[in-house]
Amino acid sequence: MKIKVDGKPPAPSYTVTVRRGALSDIGRIVGQRPTGKLIVLTNTTVQKLWFGRLRRILAAAGRKSTPIVINDGERYKTRQTYQKIIARLIDLGADRQSILITLGGGVVGDLGGFVAATYLRGIDLVHIPTTLVAQIDSSIGGKTAIDLPRAKNMLGSFYNPRQVLIDPELLSTLPDEALSDGLFEAIKTGLVCNKNLFAYIVDHLDEIRQQRPSALDRVVRGTVHEKAKVVSVDPFDRNRRAILNFGHTLGHALETAAGYRKISHGVAVGWGMLAALELSHLLGYGERRVVERAAEPIRDLLERKRFPQTEVDQLWQTIKLDKKVQGGKVRFVLLKAIGRPVIDFVDRRTVFKALERIRK
Ligand code: NAD
Ligand code: GLY
Repeated sequence: MKIKVDGKPPAPSYTVTVRRGALSDIGRIVGQRPTGKLIVLTNTTVQKLWFGRLRRILAAAGRKSTPIVINDGERYKTRQTYQKIIARLIDLGADRQSILITLGGGVVGDLGGFVAATYLRGIDLVHIPTTLVAQIDSSIGGKTAIDLPRAKNMLGSFYNPRQVLIDPELLSTLPDEALSDGLFEAIKTGLVCNKNLFAYIVDHLDEIRQQRPSALDRVVRGTVHEKAKVVSVDPFDRNRRAILNFGHTLGHALETAAGYRKISHGVAVGWGMLAALELSHLLGYGERRVVERAAEPIRDLLERKRFPQTEVDQLWQTIKLDKKVQGGKVRFVLLKAIGRPVIDFVDRRTVFKALERIRK
């Protein structure tokens, strides 16, 4: 499947390819740019698993590639890592003809995107996402970022890649927990964009978790399709795109409160979605049966995890840094029904009440 994501000037349009074996397309893509260095940004884990194959494909296309390998983890999505990558690019003599290929999950993709956006005022970027989160969400839509200690994704830009190659085969080495992280984002997309996608995930949850190609690939294709539609109409997150933040208002605050350790992005978004569903009901949007149906697969994926031990006032302060605030209320994405999001401002007391309910 090939999907065109429409850009709006100055952001270029680009193609997203979703196919088992899509990794091999990289030879043809870089063949269109015979000069300039090929730099592959990856992390220590993905380097061992998939860089060798990528290097061989590039070598068969007559191209040498140079890896830049960063430490593994959200806690390295920092200014320090960014500066190290920039220093390495300078040492390597990378110029504006160079292409940065990101090979990894959302951390490598977000960081690499920010590097590509800023190094020499912008070099070409190709994403090869290797986690489910990255394949269905972070590699599409051009958001790049690094975290600051006080808040997540605080420095960043919109910078579209030239191409995205999504090869579900690369997920075969993914630990179960990381696959579940991606499922939270897929469920999110179903809940705010398409009730049929949500129903498919609910009905095939076990097969997807077992990585049956028919089920997994369908979720990847369906979710990419929905995200591409949203970011094509609103690439710079000025209106419609806000719906993709469902569950992220609280989710980001939980990640920040944990110092970007201990809790994964997916799990944080899972708790965030449960809170947003409770808020939807408290504010009179979602009927209880809608909330229960939406919450069921999220609770399944959270299994026996406990809500993180966090000071609720601290969460509220962090939420206020991250999101739009109006008259002391914070903007949340809520749900009227599955596939029908609504945006509203919520006060501190109501947020605390929702948190009390999901912490039980
Ligand atoms: P991650 O990049 O940390 O990857 C999760 C883990 O999986 C890491 O340990 C990684 O080394 C490992 N891994 C990666 N590919 C693997 C493979 N094929 N086999 C085995 N292990 C593999 O985290 P993530 O969940 O991919 O992404 C989360 C990040 O993405 C967060 O920083 C979040 O803010 C960001 N994000 C950005 C957007 C966006 O629009 N830009 C959207 C969603 C999430
Ligand atoms: N992950 C939210 C967005 O891309 O807008």
